[in-house]
Amino acid sequence: MTTPTCSLRRLHAPDDAQIDQLGDVLIDCIEGGASVSFMHPLTRDRAVAFWRRVARGVAAGERALLVAEDARGLCGTVQLVLDQPENQPHRADLTKMLVHRRARRQGLGAALLRAAESTARECGKTLLVLDAVTGGDGARLYERMGWARVGDIPGYALFPQGGLCGTTVYYRNLGG
Ligand SMILES: CC(C)(COP(=O)(O)OP(=O)(O)OC[C@H]1O[C@@H](n2cnc3c(N)ncnc32)[C@H](O)[C@@H]1OP(=O)(O)O)[C@@H](O)C(=O)NCCC(=O)NCCS
Repeated sequence: MTTPTCSLRRLHAPDDAQIDQLGDVLIDCIEGGASVSFMHPLTRDRAVAFWRRVARGVAAGERALLVAEDARGLCGTVQLVLDQPENQPHRADLTKMLVHRRARRQGLGAALLRAAESTARECGKTLLVLDAVTGGDGARLYERMGWARVGDIPGYALFPQGGLCGTTVYYRNLGG
């Protein structure tokens, strides 16, 4: 799958160079003010440690990792958490949808989302769940792409520079 400037693919065993570039994407998102688990400043060591944990989950089959690449390297990513309780085998969580600021507003987020949905189907998943900052760029993306809004939790997390933000829970039924 491609957009005009990026190619998308699933990574089954990210190497050191790819982990480094994924670290760049995460650091850029935190510097841009995205509330995605980490506070500012996010050091390279912590970013790389995060992606190494993700890589271990990918190797164990617990996660699916999708990436987008432009001429400068990896510029976007999204994950599916496939490993769920035994009474929810049909479900996955969609997480860490990240697009480097250099690659935004060109349709890459939408392409990553459709690619993640397609990967979920291939993995036998029929229900996806995620949460996103209420009213944020991600929330707009998910609503535009047809995800169902469940509701808001005020004061759920902090922005990287401080200050509380709410989260909105969404789901998408892939079974229809
Ligand atoms: C949320 C995020 C992934 C969206 O990525 P993106 O690649 O910019 O997404 P898209 O390009 O598909 O859509 C973004 C906007 O660009 C617009 N757009 C898409 N293609 C376009 C084009 N060719 N020309 C002009 N605008 C375009 C879309 O309509 C959308 O507009 P809107 O925000 O006003 O609704 C990105 O902003 C991001 O990484 N944010 C930081 C991390 C984050 O918050 N992640 C979400 C966690 S839940």
